[in-house]
Amino acid sequence: MKPLNGAQVAQIAQQFGTPVWTYDAATIRERISQLKMFDTIRFAQKANSNIHILRLMREQGVKVDSVSLGEIERAVAAGFATGAGSDDIVFTADLLDRATLARVVELDIQVNCGSPQMLEQLGQAHPGHRVWLRVNPGFGHGHSQKTNTGGEQSKHGIWHEQIPEALALINQYNLELVGLHMHIGSGVDYSHLQEVCAAMVAQVKESGRDIQAISAGGGLSIPYRVGGETIDTAHYFSLWDAARNEIAAHLGHPVHLEIEPGRFLVAESGKLITEVRAKKDVGSNHFVLVDAGFSDLMRPAMYGSFHEISVLRADGSAAGGNTRGTVLAGPLCESGDVFTQEEGGVVTPRELPTCEIGDWVVLHDTGAYGASMSSNYNTRPLIAEVMINAEQVKQIRRRQTVAELLALEN
Ligand code: LLP
Repeated sequence: MKPLNGAQVAQIAQQFGTPVWTYDAATIRERISQLKMFDTIRFAQKANSNIHILRLMREQGVKVDSVSLGEIERAVAAGFATGAGSDDIVFTADLLDRATLARVVELDIQVNCGSPQMLEQLGQAHPGHRVWLRVNPGFGHGHSQKTNTGGEQSKHGIWHEQIPEALALINQYNLELVGLHMHIGSGVDYSHLQEVCAAMVAQVKESGRDIQAISAGGGLSIPYRVGGETIDTAHYFSLWDAARNEIAAHLGHPVHLEIEPGRFLVAESGKLITEVRAKKDVGSNHFVLVDAGFSDLMRPAMYGSFHEISVLRADGSAAGGNTRGTVLAGPLCESGDVFTQEEGGVVTPRELPTCEIGDWVVLHDTGAYGASMSSNYNTRPLIAEVMINAEQVKQIRRRQTVAELLALEN
């Protein structure tokens, strides 16, 4: 959780209205610099795909991972290169819909294949296409079961025992194998990391194939709670570097090492600013209702995720005085629209300064999987996004209008 500039929060809330997302560019640059020892940092843009964030990434030498046709078009719009000579964009998926297949072939974008059918369909459409194999090593790990992307419960990647069949398809269709990729989930800890590194080395050796690169996937966690564990990126790198060196020694040539984080690069840069609009006591629970809901920030409702919360008075000063156990909730017509809850939907009061109508409530560390997971539920327009860069405050996405939503149906 980054310190708050209360005056700036109040100014942004007044200028752009609430709810509003803000991102601090300096924090993103700082996180990028912490991973500079990797040969390639590939931003998993699903975490935050605003074109201005993507441009900032590109300017810092970061490449990008896209997982849909829309994300590919965002990357192209942000200036990432395409074509035979480029690896700026890698498309990662478990299937290729027809429109995306046509576009990756047209743009000659590397494809990280998570199913045998992707290899077949790509090979039929474009022999020689550059591919990665996304391997499910047989185990996974996540901050929630919903973000665990390895093991038998996961639809992701090619099951490790089926890699020989995938390699046979690569031969059959004359595809060019660039490398192997493993992403076992979000919120990986060091013990799992060691297992993944060992599995990667074993996979490369067993495959009997020459490859140029390996990808460590993403999954680096951030300290959502004050005092929470901060990842030691040098240590993280050293584990992967050792795996890479073992593979390089086995293959007899240098091997390129990629990392593919989403959350680590952007989560801490972001805040969601909301306004207190109502309060009520419901039996023993004290509810404070703000103008943002799970249509904006879905993580608490979806995973029981914890975000630190600050309360500011209308002038931006920190709310002092008494605190009380508070259930922070939104405007949606659904009981699960609560920001203070545990996985499974148990409403959990948080000790917060006593809120007044008109206070600003800030939800911290919402730069990853915040705006990118928003929806139009209850016909609520997507909210504005603002970037703070070198003291300058710039709107990087305007608020959607209800008229724009209705127009789709006319
Ligand atoms: N690479 C692949 C192939 C992925 O599937 C993901 C995330 C990443 C990289 C980036 O993972 P990260 O470094 O951000 O953990 N909505 C959830 C997270 C879902 C992640 C899905 N895949 C959340 O809000 O926590």
